[in-house]
Amino acid sequence: MTFRYIGSKSRLVDQISTYMGHPKKGAFFVDAFCGTGAVAEAAAERGWNVRINDNLHSAVISAGARLVSYEQAAFKRLGGYSKAIAKLNAAKPVHGFMWREYSPASLDSCGIERRYFTQENAARIDAMRALIADWSETGAIDEVEERLLIADLFGALNRVANIAGTFGCFLSKWTSQSQEKIAMRCRELKVSGVRVEATVGDVFEVPNTAADLVYLDPPYTKRQYASYYHILETVALGDEPAVEGVAGLRPWKDRASDFCYKTRALKTLSSLVQSLKAQKVLLSYSSEGHICMQDMKAELSKIGKSTMRPLGAIGRYRPNKMASSTASDVNEFLVVVERPLVQIPKSQARKVLASKPALMESYA
Ligand SMILES: C[S@@+](CC[C@H](N)C(=O)[O-])C[C@H]1O[C@@H](n2cnc3c(N)ncnc32)[C@H](O)[C@@H]1O
Repeated sequence: MTFRYIGSKSRLVDQISTYMGHPKKGAFFVDAFCGTGAVAEAAAERGWNVRINDNLHSAVISAGARLVSYEQAAFKRLGGYSKAIAKLNAAKPVHGFMWREYSPASLDSCGIERRYFTQENAARIDAMRALIADWSETGAIDEVEERLLIADLFGALNRVANIAGTFGCFLSKWTSQSQEKIAMRCRELKVSGVRVEATVGDVFEVPNTAADLVYLDPPYTKRQYASYYHILETVALGDEPAVEGVAGLRPWKDRASDFCYKTRALKTLSSLVQSLKAQKVLLSYSSEGHICMQDMKAELSKIGKSTMRPLGAIGRYRPNKMASSTASDVNEFLVVVERPLVQIPKSQARKVLASKPALMESYA
């Protein structure tokens, strides 16, 4: 994964894995705020079936791509995965939405010169995304292959984006990487796949059972992912929203997360944990987050036995080298919540099924 994703647990995943235990037959490891999917991938490597969820399509696509096996990405009609990638790299540039809104060509269309990508790279992104959509429409690729290619396109565009880590805004001066020609690459696929279910939706809607192990990694600062990763969301959806302002944000407020507001974070977290069916819940949080660790412990202890495990200091998410040299380390915690098994009345179980979010994919 080439992503610089706020709050990614890629550097803590080995420590978090030690709390996953052995996979239970028929149960899922539920990564309910999956982000990049680093933790879901570790669970799958331990043999867990995984359910990934996020309220951003782009996150679920990125996370799902980490779990794809060779068998699932055969690209039979295109002559294999590497041929598909080669065709995308050879696609003729198209002056489409990315070019119009996120390269200096935006000066003509809206009077603001946005420098996320050079004109040539933006036009190539348009061409690659259009070709993926075309393959999907004509049945040349299936849904798993389509999402894998979109995730590979995220990786490629991220390498040439003229940004300081996230897509919150572009840099005024061009970086040297942004001048390189965009190129997609094949990723390492999995030898064998576990069962994967993927949903895009609010965390409160994620299906889970008593036997599942639910992992929660909510946002802990005011940074809203929907605005920081807006361009990825547009590439994921392949739509052409009305974008606004200097940064060219797509409308994102319907995806604003309650966990990003200091005044709402604790109450929302507490009702979330309370609403889960899973007997065991793992929760990642940071000592620099909106909720103070003592308040969290007090609240979660009302729900079940709660143990706080410090995961040690990891480097703060750093947008650039300058920030990196001045920032202090952030202390990350894993809270293990275990609660007594409760019998769910049948009527309530039916309600849970009725409110299930749209299932993007379920494959073995
Ligand atoms: C801290 S990040 C997760 C990082 C992830 N564990 C990783 O290693 O990459 C939080 C994620 O929660 C998602 N999110 C925020 N609010 C949400 C909500 N109400 N429902 C579902 N996902 C949400 C964000 O889009 C973001 O991807």
